[in-house]
Amino acid sequence: MTVHFIGAGPGAPDLITLRGRDLIAACPVCLYAGSLVPEALLQYCPPGARIVNTAPLSLDQIIAEIAAAHAEGKDVARLHSGDLSVWSAMGEQLRRLRELDIPYDVTPGVPSFAAAAAALGAELTLPGVAQSVVLTRTSGRASSMPEGETLENFARTGATLAIHLSVHVLADVVARLSPSYGADCPVAVIWRASWPDQRIVRATLATLETAVGAEMERTALILVGRSIGAEEFDESRLYAGDYDRRYRPVGTHPRFPESA
Ligand SMILES: C[S@@+](CC[C@H](N)C(=O)[O-])C[C@H]1O[C@@H](n2cnc3c(N)ncnc32)[C@H](O)[C@@H]1O
Repeated sequence: MTVHFIGAGPGAPDLITLRGRDLIAACPVCLYAGSLVPEALLQYCPPGARIVNTAPLSLDQIIAEIAAAHAEGKDVARLHSGDLSVWSAMGEQLRRLRELDIPYDVTPGVPSFAAAAAALGAELTLPGVAQSVVLTRTSGRASSMPEGETLENFARTGATLAIHLSVHVLADVVARLSPSYGADCPVAVIWRASWPDQRIVRATLATLETAVGAEMERTALILVGRSIGAEEFDESRLYAGDYDRRYRPVGTHPRFPESA
């Protein structure tokens, strides 16, 4: 018996991996985080599967569900939105399972920041503009931010920021980022990336609050940085015609001769 933690992707049901889909189909028990996991994925559960929305459950209740499946020798598909490596509450579940000696494995998923970038048609690491992406959030009721992980500190690096769980504190985000990025820095807010009702607002830090207005939906990502919508950037050296590389030797004395 194994608990399969599966990244369910950002929303569109066909953005789950083939492995994730096949695991759902093979498990007689499915626990899913109902607030963001698309219900359409539940169609892959086998007939008669026990399907539980864990949104209203406590950690103890979720572990009790898993322990009951374990006692019956039934595999569990455990679905969380996006990828499991960020803000999934997987860590605390895995720790409990280790304590209980219940086997598990993890299947990654498409994270929401990648779906948001795809919705914009944006590369977040443009040569000469930004080469790092910071996945971050602001503090919430349930989670405070460790000292040092402030928006001001990240802003000083000039990296592209993918700010989660923060669209409801937009004014604060803008105020904290503007001194480093400048009021003219491009920003995009992407609500429910990849869902049928996906919505995008592009603006600058100066115009963002007006552009967003009184939008109440909270499932949104804020992407900030000079890489958003930039046209002025270098071409990657890797694909330059004169760049000598292992897969495309160039010149009379290539660094990686084909015979090597
Ligand atoms: C609890 S976190 C889950 C993150 C998830 N594990 C991931 O890989 O993206 C929820 C936050 O992720 C962001 N998010 C999740 N799905 C999204 C989507 N489809 N579009 C935009 N933002 C999304 C929002 O900032 C939301 O408040």
